[in-house]
Amino acid sequence: MSVPGLRLLLLFLISLCIPNVWADQALPYKIDIGRGGHCVRDPVWMRKNHMHLLIHQRDLAVREGKRSKEISLKNCIECHASTKDDSVIAREDSFCVACHRYEAVKIDCFDCHSGIRKSAWLLRNAK
Ligand code: HEC
Ligand code: HEC
Ligand code: HEC
Repeated sequence: MSVPGLRLLLLFLISLCIPNVWADQALPYKIDIGRGGHCVRDPVWMRKNHMHLLIHQRDLAVREGKRSKEISLKNCIECHASTKDDSVIAREDSFCVACHRYEAVKIDCFDCHSGIRKSAWLLRNAK
């Protein structure tokens, strides 16, 4: 490859790294994302709108008996529970705790709903 070509390639590669560094620094706290995969919506959209999605689905389920496999707490927890303790609420950096703690948001959802990955719970209790 020619020298200018190499330089362009290098610049391109460096430019790929910069947004990632920024993205990491943008969250001022540690958060355990869980298992990975593809979120039910775009993650950036989810950051702002997950509560509307959840509360809308709760109303559908409770008032009209309409359920969704995709938009359900159980589904969120399958992915977002920590791979260390299978929970979204056990620690300060747990998925449904880290941001809320930082932003001083209080939710009561887990007074009633389980914060544990159901598949893991079933495995454990089958033994
Ligand atoms: C007082 C107990 C209680 C609290 C607090 C509560 N829920 Fe629920 N929720 C229920 C019950 C009961 C159902 C109906 C169970 C069912 O039909 O599976 C339900 C159903 C749901 C559903 C639809 C079914 C599912 O599993 O996805 C969602 C979504 C939901 N709740 C989200 C929330 C969110 C988000 C919060 C916090 C803002 C919350 N709930 C707080 C009791 C509660
Ligand atoms: C199949 C796995 C999967 C499911 C199911 C899932 N997610 Fe996600 N979610 C992800 C991944 C992976 C990310 C991106 C993490 C990253 O790279 O920052 C993400 C991102 C997010 C974010 C933004 C996090 C951030 O750092 O800004 C929120 C909020 C979120 N999800 C909430 C939910 C909720 C609520 C549900 C259930 C309705 C759900 N997710 C279901 C995998 C999943
Ligand atoms: C990337 C950060 C982040 C993650 C991860 C996250 N939340 Fe949130 N959540 C927020 C912020 C910020 C607010 C407050 C938004 C506002 O007040 O406009 C909020 C608000 C909420 C609310 C509405 C509370 C209210 O009374 O207004 C619910 C319900 C909620 N989140 C549920 C969840 C659940 C369940 C999870 C885990 C599956 C989760 N969130 C994960 C950042 C996050």
